[in-house]
Order: sequence, then C-alpha cells, then structure tokens
Amino acid sequence: MTTLAQWLALETPDTALASVIASMASAGADIAATLRMAPITGDTGLAGATNVQGEAQKALDIISNDIVLAHLRDNPKVSLLVSEEMDDAVELSVDAPFIVATDPLDGSSNLDVNVTVGTIFSVLPTLGGPLQKGTAQVAAGYIAYGHATTMVLRIKGRTSGFALDTSGEWIEIIAEAKIPEATGEFAINTARERFWDAATAGYVRESIAGETGPAGKRYNMRWVGSMVADMHRILMRGGIFLYPLDSETVSKGGRLRLLYEANPMAWLAEGAGGRASTGTQSLLSVQPTSIHQRIPVILGSAEEVLRVEAWYAKS
Ligand code: AHG
Ligand code: MN
Ligand code: MN
Repeated sequence: MTTLAQWLALETPDTALASVIASMASAGADIAATLRMAPITGDTGLAGATNVQGEAQKALDIISNDIVLAHLRDNPKVSLLVSEEMDDAVELSVDAPFIVATDPLDGSSNLDVNVTVGTIFSVLPTLGGPLQKGTAQVAAGYIAYGHATTMVLRIKGRTSGFALDTSGEWIEIIAEAKIPEATGEFAINTARERFWDAATAGYVRESIAGETGPAGKRYNMRWVGSMVADMHRILMRGGIFLYPLDSETVSKGGRLRLLYEANPMAWLAEGAGGRASTGTQSLLSVQPTSIHQRIPVILGSAEEVLRVEAWYAKS
C-alpha cells in the first residue's frame, strides 16, 4: 500500500510543493471529521452571512474555510490564499513559493441532505501572482466527502486517487486515473433549459435522442449538484459535465469560478486524458482578470467535449 507521503516523495523532488499538498490533505481530513459530526452539532444550516458573490454562506462553508486557512497559515511555503469564501486574497508567508486557490466546501446546498460535498484546490507558483492561466498550475486536487473520503491529485503528468483510512492516513487507491474517451452519461442542470444557448440545447437534444439520434447510442443523465461528486463519477467511469454560459448567467460570465472550481477540475480532467473547454476555447488557456471570475465549464470524456465544441463552432 502506498501512502500519500510515499506518493509525494515519488512524484516530486520539491518538498515545499509536497508540504502544500500534505497541508490540504490534512485540512481535508479535518473537514471530513467535522462533516461527520455536523448532523449532531447542527452546523448544516445557513451562517446568516453572504460571500462576495452574493451567495448565502452555510456555517460549514465558513468552518471549512477556517480549517483550510489554519492549515495553510501553519505552512511557511504558502504566500497567498484565494478562497471562494473570502472577498480578498489573504497574504500568508512572505516570499513563500506557492499560491493556493480553493473552494473549501463545494456543493454546500447538499449538506442538509447528506449528499457528497467536496473541497477543490489549485496550486500556482507565487511568481506569476494569482491571475495565471490554468496551464500554470503545478498541482491541483479535490477531496470528495462521500461514504468514503477520497482525494484525487495531480502533480505534473500523473493523476492519482487516495482514500482516507480510519486512522487518518491517505492510501493510494488509483495509481493513474484515466477518463474513458467515450461515455454514455451527461451531467447538466436541465431545469435551466429555457436559458440555454443553441449549442447546449443542440448537444443535449442530440444526446436525449439516443440510438435514434446522430450520436447513435443511448445516454443517461446524472446531476448531483456538487461539482466534486459529478467530477469524481466522471473520472471513475467517464461522462461529461456542463455548466455552460446561458442567458441568465451571461452577465456574470458563467456560474462556476475559474480559479478554484474550473481550473483545478480542468487540469485534473486533462491529466486523466479528458478535455476541458468553455465551448469556444480551452478552459486552461483563459487569462483570469479577477480572483472570483466566473467561466462556462464543459469537461470530461474527450469525445463528448469535442461534440459540444463542434456545436459551438457551427452555432
Ligand atoms: P458551491 O456550493 O461552492 O457554491 O458550488 C456549487 C456549484 C457546483 O458544485 C455545482 O455543480 C453547481 O453549483 C450546482 O448548480 P445548480 O444549483 O444550478 O444545480
Ligand atoms: Mn463550488
Ligand atoms: Mn463552495
């Protein structure tokens, strides 16, 4: 059995980078323990505050953010933390080599119903500042808090999976994640159909037509409402995730955030042989202009993402 510490020692000679990942993994283990107790402590509800994006914060959004912040404050290798739950980036250790961007608790609307939520993070070199393209990431990962707590990590080329054992140790469970190229599952919030653009509507219509349509095969639809949970399914058995630009989100630039949702997931997907797009360009090539910037997200099995891109190209 390979532990996270052993995996890190094999994957990177950079002990500073390894320590940042280890800090995020420890934060994840603490968040997992907190979530496990939440129905008893009663922390699943609203905090009574809104974040910079105008979203109601859950108590656990804030608690999870505090846990990540505390772990990264203790790590002298992190210069800056960008978080969904904090208006501004927080300066940590001066001259430290890495920036972390995080969604400390993704899918928090699922908390009161005990559905999988997660933590997403992206690691960038300090030199370029927080507004770097996704291609500049040096590590990324997510932690999924389901019936098992699992983590998927990428450093450089390899994307591996881990599970948290009952003693608090992360154990490698997937040596090299590979998203199947073809899939029969798509994930999109179909309740937003009336806001969709022609490309999204065309792609979904074609998929629903199944074996009688141009795709020539049957599809199934899955939508958890936690990007981490949807992504984990896609990494394990293929699929496509879409949160496209639609007529309601267009004024904000999309729904999901570029720095700490789209970029880390896109980099993980591509590390596992998948594809990530805005519909019209590679997600990882988007130049960020602000830390909480939103972006359309289409990612997963390469064949499906290419089909959506083809729809965008012709519409
Ligand atoms: P967050 O809980 O961090 O705000 O993110 C929720 C995101 C993402 O996890 C999910 O895919 C999407 O919002 C769900 O959107 P709908 O509410 O439109 O289903
Ligand atoms: Mn989120
Ligand atoms: Mn969140």
